[in-house]
Amino acid sequence: MTIPFIDLKTQYKALKNQIDERIHRVLDHGQYIMGPEIKECEDALKKFLGVKHALVCSNGTDALQIALMAANIGPGDEVITTPFSFIATAEAIRLVGAIPVFVDIESDTYNIDAKKIEAAVTPRTRAIMPVSLYGQVADMDEINAIAKKHSLLVIEDAAQSFGAPYKGKRSCNLSEVSCTSFFPAKPLGCYGDGGAIFTNNDQMVNALNSVRLHGMGEHRYHHSRIGTNGRLDSLQCAVLVAKLERYPWEIEQRERVAQNYTKAFSTLREKGVRTPTIKSDRHSVWAQYTLWVPDRTKFQAALQASGVPTAVHYPIAMPDQPAYKEHCVTHDISNARKAAEHVVSLPMFPDMSEETQAKIVSAVHAAFA
Ligand SMILES: Cc1ncc(COP(=O)(O)O)c(C=O)c1O
Repeated sequence: MTIPFIDLKTQYKALKNQIDERIHRVLDHGQYIMGPEIKECEDALKKFLGVKHALVCSNGTDALQIALMAANIGPGDEVITTPFSFIATAEAIRLVGAIPVFVDIESDTYNIDAKKIEAAVTPRTRAIMPVSLYGQVADMDEINAIAKKHSLLVIEDAAQSFGAPYKGKRSCNLSEVSCTSFFPAKPLGCYGDGGAIFTNNDQMVNALNSVRLHGMGEHRYHHSRIGTNGRLDSLQCAVLVAKLERYPWEIEQRERVAQNYTKAFSTLREKGVRTPTIKSDRHSVWAQYTLWVPDRTKFQAALQASGVPTAVHYPIAMPDQPAYKEHCVTHDISNARKAAEHVVSLPMFPDMSEETQAKIVSAVHAAFA
């Protein structure tokens, strides 16, 4: 039996009737762009998150760029963010011509260290873009407080944390604007590229919607701002509506898998292995289950030999990427650089059987025997 890193086939089998039926409904009505599934999906997302406005869009990267464009953030502006994320976070900032300002992460959660943000604020700072990495929300209360003090916009990059519980609320409803990704491997994924933007602000939603639709003004061929083609199609929304119904159960299952891993690996602490740290006032939706290991190359080779896939999120801190070195402000990012050297993710998906997990656990133990 090969162990997948993420098992989307079992998930599809469980939802086959609902997904197939919804896809066929789209094929029957033929409104592939801006069909009735868009509103249906946006309403379902809003209900799940308890947020006022949801706009589905083409992907998580575009969601971030649309949010920045809607806020008129551009050349000469700075956006404070984490150095340890998928490149899309910094990419969106550069795409609008603004400068990413990288502030180090916490060494245990790998999220941006909110205590270090204020020292990076300058007269050019317009926004803070924290990432809720691996499925755990960053310190949003502290980040929102700093933003309020300095009149900054907060855009949560919630690509990995859709709906993660945080102090009685959910990720994607914790700051003025939030963006997520429905890339298939994300906690809530569609069957292609997809994303969404969320806000409770009535003015902001109009700007976001206009940017999503080529800067549309009074009507389809009137353009009041520079926008983009940021729409999501009806077929992807049909898939998302079906998958969202199962999502609460899937979050529970991801938690089960994560807890089993953490319990099984507690004895490896003396070998220098660190299991994930989740703060007591929040829960992860476990986009990734990520270990810190002393020698990652050796660890990955051992797991590969046992037939267990692993992945590295992420091997290079963003300011150290060739395309970004020259175009950013970088504070001390030593925690991010260390994490980039040591983190490694294990298979994580809600339908993981006990038998599969036992194989993964024994392969990890064997790697340190
Ligand atoms: C933290 C983060 N931000 C943004 C993105 C971009 O999302 P997408 O791949 O949908 O463009 C991703 C997805 O990989 C991500 O993990």
